[in-house]
Amino acid sequence: VSAVVAIDGPAGSGKSTTARAVAGRLGFTHLDSGALYRAFALAALERELDEGERIAALADALPIRLDLVDDRFRPEIAGVDVSQAVRRPDVTARVSFVAALPAVRAAVNRMLRAAATLAPLGVVADGRDIGSVVFPDADLKIFLVAAAPERARRRLSQEGRAVDEASIRRASRELLARDARDAERAHAPLVQPPGAVRLDTTGMVFAEQVETIVGLARNAFPQLT
Ligand code: C5P
Repeated sequence: VSAVVAIDGPAGSGKSTTARAVAGRLGFTHLDSGALYRAFALAALERELDEGERIAALADALPIRLDLVDDRFRPEIAGVDVSQAVRRPDVTARVSFVAALPAVRAAVNRMLRAAATLAPLGVVADGRDIGSVVFPDADLKIFLVAAAPERARRRLSQEGRAVDEASIRRASRELLARDARDAERAHAPLVQPPGAVRLDTTGMVFAEQVETIVGLARNAFPQLT
C-alpha cells in the first residue's frame, strides 16, 4: 500500500483543487473520489437508470475506469474521458442519490484502493469518507471546512458565474442541501474521521491552505525532502 493523504470535507470546501496542488508539491498522484461517484451518476443518467435497484444491480457492469494519466487518475466511461462531463449540473444534482447506494460505494471503494497501489509514490485522495472508510490507515487525514457563503462564492467564481448576493444565497442553499444528504445517509456518511486535522479555510487564501497541508505532510512523511 502506498503513502496516503486523505482530504475529506463538505461540498465546495476546495478539496479537489487543494488535493491536486498538494499532490503536485509532494510528487504524489491525485485521486478524486467525487469524480468517480459523478462518473457513476453520469453513466446512470446516460443509460436512463433512474431506480436505485437498477443502478445497484449494474454497478459492477458499468464500463467505468480510472486511468492513470501523468499525475492524476482520470475517470473514463467506455474509454472516453469524462472529467469535464461529470461537472455538469444535472450530474451534480443526481450524484448524492447514486452515492448513497451501497453497491455503488463498494464498486468505487474497490477502484480507489486498486488505483492507490498504482501510484508511484503515493496518493492524495479527496472525498467524504476517505479517512473514515476507504483509507482508515492513511498517514495524514485532513478535514477541510469553510463557511457556506464562502464556499458558494469560490464555487461561483471558479465556474465563471456572477458572484452577487442572490447567487451566493442560492449556491449556499444547494451546497448545504447536498451536505445534508451526504451527512444523513446510512452508508459512509460525511464525518470528520478520527485523527483528522480540521482545517477551516474561510479566511485563508488558497496558497496558505496548500502550504499548511504540505507542511503537515512533510512531518508525516519524513522521507520526503
Ligand atoms: O466532491 P464532489 O462534489 O465531486 O462529490 C460529489 C458527490 O459524490 C458528493 O456530493 C457525494 O454524494 C459523493 N461522494 C461520496 N463519497 C466520497 C466522495 C464523493 O459520497 N468519498
